[in-house]
Amino acid sequence: MAKDSAYKIPRHVAIIMDGNGRWAKKRLLPRKAGHVQGSRVAEQICEDAFDLGIEYLTIYAFSTENWARPQDEVDALMDLLRKYMKDSIERSSKNNMRVTVIGDISRLAEDLQESIRTLERVSANNTGLKFQVAINYGGRDEILRAVRKLSTRVAAGELSPEDITEEVFYSYFDTAGMPYPDLMIRTSGELRTSNFLPWQLAYSEFYFTDVLWPDFNKKELQKAIDFYNGRDRRFGGV
Ligand code: FPP
Repeated sequence: MAKDSAYKIPRHVAIIMDGNGRWAKKRLLPRKAGHVQGSRVAEQICEDAFDLGIEYLTIYAFSTENWARPQDEVDALMDLLRKYMKDSIERSSKNNMRVTVIGDISRLAEDLQESIRTLERVSANNTGLKFQVAINYGGRDEILRAVRKLSTRVAAGELSPEDITEEVFYSYFDTAGMPYPDLMIRTSGELRTSNFLPWQLAYSEFYFTDVLWPDFNKKELQKAIDFYNGRDRRFGGV
């Protein structure tokens, strides 16, 4: 697509990085090798997204349902996340990226929680890409946690039910303060959203590609943005 002045770059892109296991299987490698390659691609795509002018990037690294995978795969994913958080503490000052984790991190190992908190703190004032990593994230769980916090305030008499507008409710979400995603990308051919940002994706454009996540790259991201430019977003209007 010609990149004229009307060409729109989505402000916030959300990605379901699917297909790591199939990528590994095709190469007769253990599933873990697919996740290792997938995490490299996740790192690279942050740079590519920022180059293309995307402000917010949110990726689904580990869902509330992923605990049901075999223990050695869960351990491998946790180790990758551990390494990512540790390495990013230094890296974020070089690439100016703000990293936050969304999801309920209280179930994660204490050392991983500590690295996450450190990374969030040291990168909080960075002005480059705003990168959200969803870990032990489930959209229904996020809504329930928001409802619990809200209802505690209502029960304490600090808030009346009539004051609960969309803005007030959203301020209790893990992504509070961030614009809703304009574009959701899912790799590897599955056509579902798997409990990822159900509230936030209500009006997003969805782009599905057969490309497996470990094969995803800047060219594929550009294709997704081209697709987004072909959409007519009406937000319920005409
Ligand atoms: C889906 O592939 C992918 C996941 C469940 C995990 C995604 C995690 C990473 C890419 C690595 C961690 C990220 C960072 C930022 C360090 P799948 O295993 O369901 O693939 P399959 O459907 O082909 O089996």
